[in-house]
Amino acid sequence: MTQTHHTSVSLVAQTCGPLSGTITPPGDKSISHRSIMFGGIAQGRTRVRGLLEGEDVLSTVAALRAVGAKIAKEGEVWQIDGVGLETMAEPSGVLDMGNSGTSARLLIGLLGARPFTSFFTGDGSLCKRPMGRVTVPLEQMGLRFMSRVGGRLPLAVTGPERVQPITYRLPVASAQVKSAVLLAGLSAEGVTTVIEPVPTRDPTERMLRAFGAKLDVTKMDDGADAIALTGRPTLMGQEVQVPADISSAAFPMVAALLREGSEVRLMNVGINERRAGLLHSLLEMGADITLENKRDLCGEPVADLLVRGSVLKGATIPESRVPSMVDEYPVLAMAAACASGTSRFIGLAELRVKESDRLALVAKGLEAVGAKVEVEGDDLIIHGNGQPPRGGATIATALDHRIAMSFLVLGLATPEPIAVDDGSVIATSFPSFVELMNGLGARIGEGA
Ligand code: S3P
Repeated sequence: MTQTHHTSVSLVAQTCGPLSGTITPPGDKSISHRSIMFGGIAQGRTRVRGLLEGEDVLSTVAALRAVGAKIAKEGEVWQIDGVGLETMAEPSGVLDMGNSGTSARLLIGLLGARPFTSFFTGDGSLCKRPMGRVTVPLEQMGLRFMSRVGGRLPLAVTGPERVQPITYRLPVASAQVKSAVLLAGLSAEGVTTVIEPVPTRDPTERMLRAFGAKLDVTKMDDGADAIALTGRPTLMGQEVQVPADISSAAFPMVAALLREGSEVRLMNVGINERRAGLLHSLLEMGADITLENKRDLCGEPVADLLVRGSVLKGATIPESRVPSMVDEYPVLAMAAACASGTSRFIGLAELRVKESDRLALVAKGLEAVGAKVEVEGDDLIIHGNGQPPRGGATIATALDHRIAMSFLVLGLATPEPIAVDDGSVIATSFPSFVELMNGLGARIGEGA
C-alpha cells in the first residue's frame, strides 16, 4: 500500500459564465513516462521539454534514479544522463508506483527483464488493478514473479540470465501490455513480436525508434499489426519535446463546450489518430471545435484547438473507438449528460480496471446529480434533455483523478454546485488544473 500520503482536499465547482482565453495544457503523460524511461536507459544525455510534472511521471523518475540514471531539472528542461540498458543497477528499496498504472506495467517489463530482483508497490487504487495481463506474457519470457493473489501489487520480479524473445498476441487492447512486452524484449537476444489486433496508442514504438532501436511494423493477413523489436539495441540520448496531452485538454475542452459564449484556445495539443477519439465523438455530438495550425512536433502531429460553447446532441460511440479515447469517457459522459437525446457508449469493459471502476463511478455520480443513466452490461447509456442536470451532490473520487476533474467540469454548468471529496488526486496527471481552469473563468474552489 501507499507510501505517498495525501491530505484530502474537497473541491467544489459552481456555475460559471462563458470561458475564454488561451492555455497550453500539461504535457502528454504517455510520452513523458517514456521519455524518462528511454532517456534513463540510453547512452548519453536526453533533454526533455514540456515534461508532465504530475505525480505519475515523478514515480517513473524515482524508479529510473533507483537503477542509476541521473535525472535533474535545469530551468525548464529535464536532463537525463542514461545509465545504459545493460548497466542498470538493482534497486535497493521497494519501488512505489503511487497511482500510476503506466509506471507499474512498463517498468515491470523493463526492470523485470534485468538479472536482478525488483519490488513494486502502489497506492490503494493501483494495488487493486490487474497485473496478470503483464505477468502472463513476461513469464513466457523467463521473468519470475511473486505477487499477491490474483496478480496484484505488491509484487517482486526476478529477471533471468537470458530473456526469451516471444511472439505475443494481445488478448486486451492495451498499450501498457504491448509496451511491457516490448520493453522486456529490449533485454532479449533476438526479435520480440507483439501482435495487436486493434490499434492502441503508439508512443513506445515511435520513441524506441527515435532512440535508435530497430522496430518494424507489418500488417498481417487478418489486419492485425505485428510489431517486431530487435533486442539489445544501443539507445542514444535524444532531444524530446512533449506535446500537450489531449486527455488533459479534454477537461477545459468540454467545459468550454458546456458554457454558452465560450471561446477557448488549447495550444500544442497532440492529435495522433490513435488518441483522437474524443475529438471525433464531440464533433459527432455537434461540438464547435476547429483544428488550427496543424504541424509536427518531434514526430507527433499537434494542433491548436479553438473550442466554442456549443449545443450538443447525444451520440452512439462504438466499441471500436475505445482504444483511441479510453481515458476520455468520464468527461464525454459529462457532455452527454448536458446534450439533448440519448447517448450510448458501447463496450466499456476496460473502464472497470482503470484508476477506479470508471463505468460504475460515472453512472453513480451522474445519478447523484440528477441525470438519467443506465448501465447495460458494459455499455453506458445517458438520457439527456438538452439541459445540464441539477447538480447538488458530493462525488467520491476513489483515488481517480479523471473522475474528480470530470465532475468538477460538470459542476461549472449545473444549477447547483458539484463537490468532489478529494481533489488532491488531480495532481497525478494535471497539477495545474484548478489554476488553469479558473484562469479561463471557471469557479472551482476549496469545499467545506
Ligand atoms: C497508457 C495506456 C492506457 C491509458 C493510460 C496510459 C499508456 O492504458 O489508459 O492512461 O501510456 O500506455 P491501457 O493500456 O491499460 O489501456
